[in-house]
Amino acid sequence: MPFMSEQMNSRMLRDAFGAFPTGVVAVAAQVDGRMVGLAASSFTSVSLEPPLVSFSVAKDSTTWPDLRRAAHLGVTVLAEDHGALCRQLAGPARERFTGVALDITDSGAVMLTEGIAQYDCTVREELEAGDHVIVLLQLHAVVVNSRGQPLIFHRSEFGRLA
Ligand SMILES: Cc1cc2nc3c(=O)[nH]c(=O)nc-3n(C[C@H](O)[C@H](O)[C@H](O)COP(=O)(O)O)c2cc1C
Repeated sequence: MPFMSEQMNSRMLRDAFGAFPTGVVAVAAQVDGRMVGLAASSFTSVSLEPPLVSFSVAKDSTTWPDLRRAAHLGVTVLAEDHGALCRQLAGPARERFTGVALDITDSGAVMLTEGIAQYDCTVREELEAGDHVIVLLQLHAVVVNSRGQPLIFHRSEFGRLA
């Protein structure tokens, strides 16, 4: 039985979650010779020692079953002018990387060249959480573009830092 009531239906929950501003990352890898990935606003840093980050992926994601098979995953923090690119990364799977400049590591992690930070990760743990899976990622390498400004996602719209 879904956990819904007059005080808290799914519309209200979406609005409530959307009140919290986030950045957006691209999670991507090369799997069986193909680029596979998606946009995620659920990314967060978790631990410095060991270095861990996380994001949540919908259980009905058709991309995650492929992406999770990659030896390494690339996580890229999107830049403030990446609104259209973010929609592309969340759109039809075959076109997600069309025209996008990519950095690909030997272990198959895929990062966006124009991102403001790039993380090379492996999956450490997956935790079922309702209709999502919380994915805990171990960091192996990071590259930060200290001059870039991030894309902001808030109330279903893209924005930038003032
Ligand atoms: C701004 C934005 C943030 C998103 N954040 C997430 C997220 O945190 N987790 C998730 O599973 N999907 C998220 N999505 C949706 C995915 O990018 C993608 O559209 C979804 O996984 C459906 O594609 P799939 O079936 O190929 O997985 C987000 C989409 C947008 C536009």
